[in-house]
Amino acid sequence: MNIDQIKQKLQTNIFGDKLFYYEEVDSTNARTLQLAREGAPEGTVVLTDFQKKGKGRLNRTWFAPKGENLLVSVLLRPEQEITAVQKITLAMANIVLEVLDKHLKSESKTREAHTISLKWPNDVLIDHKKVAGILSESILKEKHIEALVIGFGINLNTPVKQMPDEIKATTISLIDILGKPVNRERFLCELLLLLEKHYTSLERSNYKNVVKQWKKHCPDIGQKIIITTPGGQETGTFQDINKFGYLVYQTDDGIRKELNAGEIRKA
Ligand code: BTN
Repeated sequence: MNIDQIKQKLQTNIFGDKLFYYEEVDSTNARTLQLAREGAPEGTVVLTDFQKKGKGRLNRTWFAPKGENLLVSVLLRPEQEITAVQKITLAMANIVLEVLDKHLKSESKTREAHTISLKWPNDVLIDHKKVAGILSESILKEKHIEALVIGFGINLNTPVKQMPDEIKATTISLIDILGKPVNRERFLCELLLLLEKHYTSLERSNYKNVVKQWKKHCPDIGQKIIITTPGGQETGTFQDINKFGYLVYQTDDGIRKELNAGEIRKA
C-alpha cells in the first residue's frame, strides 16, 4: 500500500484522519478494537497488506494473500443503543455496494452485464459470488455502543483461480470482472469518502432507510433457504428483514423465526 498516495488522494475530514498502516498485523479489527479501548477517535482507520489472523464471521479466517486486496477497519462511535449494531452493519454493506457499483461504472465497459447484490447479513456479491465481507465488532457500555469496529475485506486483485479450493466456487474478485488490476489506494479513498458522506446523515436519521435500501439489493427475499445457526440447520423461506436487521423466515413447519446471527444459502 502506498500510504503517501492515500494521504494525497483522500478527500475526507474525519475518516482516515488518523490512519494506521501495518505491513503485517494479526487482524485490522483486533488492532482497531485495541486502539478504541485506548481512546482513539471516530474515523480512525487501520490498514494492512497482510493479516496473520484475519477474522471472518462465525469464527472463520479471512483469506487474503499479501498485498493484493483491501483489508481495512474503521472505528465508529455511533450514538446508538446496542440494538442498532446489526442495522449499522447493513448500512456498511449498502455503502460497499455503492462503491463497487461506482467503480464498475467507471472501469468496466460492461457494467450492465453484472449484478451486484447483498446476501444476509452483510456479504456483497458480484454475479452471485462473494466479493466482500464485513465483520463488525463492538465495545458496549451498558445499553450503548461505545465503539463499533467495521472491518472490510474486499477481493480486488486475487483472481478466483488463486483462491483456496473451498471458496473458489462461491468467490469472485474485481480483477476477474475487470480483467485488469484495481488501484487499491484509489478504491480505499472512494470507500472512505462514501463512508464519511453517508455516516453523518445515517446517524442523524437513526438509520431510517437502511433496511429498505438493503432489501432492494437482496434477491433472496421470498426464496427457499437453508439457515445455519450455532444450533444447527433448517430450511425455510426468507420472508423479510426486521427493523433491527434480523433475518425473518418461516420454517418448513410454518413457524416464524427471527435470527440475528447465522448464515443462509439457497435451498
Ligand atoms: C466475513 O466473514 O464475511 C467477514 C470478513 C471480514 C474480513 C475483514 S478483513 C479486514 C478486517 N479484519 C479482520 O480480521 N476481518 C475484517
